[in-house]
Amino acid sequence: MTPQDTIRIFDTTLRDGEQSPGCSMTPQQKVVMARALAELGVDIIETGFPASSESDREAAKLIAREIRTPTLAVLSRCLPADIEASARALEGTANPRLHIFISTSPLHREHKLRMSRQQVLDLAAASVEHARRLVDDVEFSTEDGTRTEEDFLAEVIGAAIAGGAGTINVPDTLGYTTPEEMRGLFQRLIATVPGARDVIFSAHCHDDLGLAVANSLAAIEGGARQVECTVNGIGERAGNCAIEELAMALKVRNAFYDIDTRLDTRLLVPTSQLLSRLTGMQVQRNKAIVGDNAFAHESGIHQHGMLRHRGTYEIMNPSDVGWPDSKLVLGRHSGRAAVGHRLRALGYTLEDAQIDQVFAAFKALCEQQRVVDDDDLEALMQGDLHGQGWRLASMTVSDRGQRASAQVELSAPDGTRVSESALGDGPVDALFAALAAATGVELSLQSYQVHSVGIGRDARGEANLGVRHESAPGRSCDYEGSGTSRDIIEASALAWLDVANRILRTRAPQPVAASA
Ligand code: KIV
Ligand code: ZN
Repeated sequence: MTPQDTIRIFDTTLRDGEQSPGCSMTPQQKVVMARALAELGVDIIETGFPASSESDREAAKLIAREIRTPTLAVLSRCLPADIEASARALEGTANPRLHIFISTSPLHREHKLRMSRQQVLDLAAASVEHARRLVDDVEFSTEDGTRTEEDFLAEVIGAAIAGGAGTINVPDTLGYTTPEEMRGLFQRLIATVPGARDVIFSAHCHDDLGLAVANSLAAIEGGARQVECTVNGIGERAGNCAIEELAMALKVRNAFYDIDTRLDTRLLVPTSQLLSRLTGMQVQRNKAIVGDNAFAHESGIHQHGMLRHRGTYEIMNPSDVGWPDSKLVLGRHSGRAAVGHRLRALGYTLEDAQIDQVFAAFKALCEQQRVVDDDDLEALMQGDLHGQGWRLASMTVSDRGQRASAQVELSAPDGTRVSESALGDGPVDALFAALAAATGVELSLQSYQVHSVGIGRDARGEANLGVRHESAPGRSCDYEGSGTSRDIIEASALAWLDVANRILRTRAPQPVAASA
């Protein structure tokens, strides 16, 4: 495959992604993310919009200091001051690109720019020439390009090519276009605009109708050889084309598209998780490729199929995108085959009758909790899932006065009752402090999420905790736990105790019911 035959990935996580609500990053965080993007193998990293903030200027400088291989781009309006600020921000960059844009659609011309077609055309041409005098590699974007009259779009693009732009980006800024339209538009522009075959055409698709990836793929079919993406699809409003989805569509359906990216797709999941950690913006569980459920199977029929041949329910290998393996999630929908398989993986050799027994206990447990993990299975094998551990007997939490207070009564693993109370900065803080005092278990909270399960009067609150626990000086482990209740504070207490009991089980000696 020649370089001409690959899709250049222009990553705009640090610019279009970062400018969206909930995704802002400090310059130092951007450097960490830029390192990961370079490792992932993106061709171009857009680091920011220097004229917009000091923080973007600093990020561009810091990233340029250590990232030498991918091209580093910065964004600029078609304004002399912006272009000069961008060129300054690119000083010292090994492979700099100046990316300039102007709106071309009638709506933007009239209401945003208050300019005529001729004015937009002249400004675009002059700005590309200005940028080219400062930097060799210039990309030109027609903002709201897909809602622009096609003859005018072609005219502006022709002027930008004549002015020296090496990359022409046609954004679907509003995520309005359909794949069919996108394919046709790129085909016609590349076939008719003078000089189009000597430059790279690029697609930049937003996801307002959930079509960003489909439209980017259609642009590729139409001749685009650069796609602008973000990790996890973050970006303005509904976001941009998700890098992980585009890359895997090209890889998995390579026989159809006959073109690929240069990405090391095994780094897609770690890169996605890094971005979530840096921004605090989690991806939905069922997000393609990088969501927790992307390779998880719970239904008995699917698990059975997976155990026979993974191709029955998976079109790609989880390790190709950076997951350790598929997950056969054990829950209410799981069958005996999957439970038996998991027990064997945990080292238990069981007779059929024993599996039946454990499976019955497993089903009963599924009535109380949504997911049964390895710790729970171990506990089932030891017959102590509910016999041991800390149980909540009662609790009161009050948030009146200066500090919140909580009082808990627990039933201890040995059956005795323990009561403790504590103050905290809020009800949950006080509650967790009281639980720590009662159990003597110290947990350092890493994540805490509460959401509702079900709707209307039947809705219940589910709390999920991620904690770090130091089992010995210098030796800490991460645990997760969950709890459900009609009351979210009580769900939080149950989640906390779920974690504490998991820790207790890992400390307890391991009697086994069968040979392990
Ligand atoms: O969506 C868009 O049109 C953009 C351009 C500035 C490239 O982000
Ligand atoms: Zn955009």
